[in-house]
Amino acid sequence: MISQSKNKNIVILGSQWGDEGKGKIVDLLTARAQAVVRFQGGHNAGHTLVIDGKKTKLSLIPSGIMHPQVTCFIGPGVVVSPTVLLNEIAMLRQEGIDVTGRLKISANCPIVLPTHIQLDLAREKARGAAAIGTTGRGIGPTYEDQVGRRGMRLGDLLKPSRFIERVTELLAYHNFLLEHYYHVPTVSLETVLEATLSHRDAIAGTLCDVTASLDDLSRAGNIILFEGAQGTLLDIDHGTYPFVTSSNTTAGAVSTGTGIGPCRIDYVLGVTKAYTTRVGAGPMPTELTDQVGQHLRERGQEFGTVTGRPRRCGWFDVILMRRSALLNSLTGLCITKLDVLDGLKTVKLCVGYRSQNQTPESVSDEALLSAPATSSAVPFAIPFAIPFDSEDLAHAEPIYETMPGWAEDTSGMTSWNSLPDNAKNYLKRIETLVGVPIDILSTGPDRIETIIVRDPLA
Ligand code: IMP
Repeated sequence: MISQSKNKNIVILGSQWGDEGKGKIVDLLTARAQAVVRFQGGHNAGHTLVIDGKKTKLSLIPSGIMHPQVTCFIGPGVVVSPTVLLNEIAMLRQEGIDVTGRLKISANCPIVLPTHIQLDLAREKARGAAAIGTTGRGIGPTYEDQVGRRGMRLGDLLKPSRFIERVTELLAYHNFLLEHYYHVPTVSLETVLEATLSHRDAIAGTLCDVTASLDDLSRAGNIILFEGAQGTLLDIDHGTYPFVTSSNTTAGAVSTGTGIGPCRIDYVLGVTKAYTTRVGAGPMPTELTDQVGQHLRERGQEFGTVTGRPRRCGWFDVILMRRSALLNSLTGLCITKLDVLDGLKTVKLCVGYRSQNQTPESVSDEALLSAPATSSAVPFAIPFAIPFDSEDLAHAEPIYETMPGWAEDTSGMTSWNSLPDNAKNYLKRIETLVGVPIDILSTGPDRIETIIVRDPLA
């Protein structure tokens, strides 16, 4: 069925440091889509979906798979662990969801090998106090091999003898590093083949030319959702380097990670929490280590889906969100977890930074409003640009605007009008300062706990 929606190619991505609740929003919009696509990252992502009170956790397969009318794609920008992929397929089958013919994967996806995981863990250990806090899933080393032009790709599984020849060479290199540089156990060829080539037949049936298939679907007028993983500030080029992931997490990665060019994108939804969280190390100017931070962690259940690690929590950072709006050319915002702020006497928005050698005056609305977030002039229009260096950002002291909180319980609300006035004021202030309209509000984990202010698919 051809959709009447004007926006056909929709990107949904995290606009902070990941875990913004993208999975639920993708799932919500998927009801009216024909395809959902992953374009970067790997099984370092973690999506928890709650449908009719039942939780499903996915880390690699697009969350759109829960909808029987949808075809899911994994583009060449995604690194794939065959073992994880097949485990997720089996888990879905157990829940009565058959992926046959509905899950299509690019033959060009780099393969995550067992040695990549060993290298990831060994590197983190060797970094000691300077560890990035990776998910330990082998994502970084897999991308390194891809860029180093020595990696294995899913399509290589189709030529077993060539695969064995090349993976043997790669293994010699990995094992040399593991044994002689990191002084940790090596991995046998049998283990690597068991995790890869032994799954050849199961994987072969899912492989396709993702770019051509998406182009066909798109030309036929279908709605395609591009589902980001991690978040904007973890982008390898634009994030808080080196405390980032190893892929581009910003909207540009849709094109590089699928082969669908940038002019084909109609709408970019930036998903953000009503506050800020981060897992792993790296600068986070608004981090709260006090009782309010504790409140956000407990009330928001801020523990990682993939690793179970407690997330660092803090106030909403307008400055970083404006950068995110710029980097992704955001069309609309989706704010999640507003209810976590319920019951706080006051709420705060970070509207600037004070750094050691710079004491800015307070930012005026005129200055912000005269510089739309998506304008390339933004970094110069804001009196205090984001510190370029992660170390400087770590020392940036936030300048807060304090607003009155609300006592009412907003969880599960389904209309804008029922929100407490102070919550509305808080949200409107974010909208004004960021310069991007709030199109969706999520008030709880279930699909129905949502307020659609402006429908991206209208
Ligand atoms: P990696 O992606 O496993 O290499 O980890 C690099 C950084 O990205 C670490 O700080 C991780 O905690 C973070 N990271 C990776 N995946 C996610 C995610 O899905 N949500 C939030 N943070 C993530």
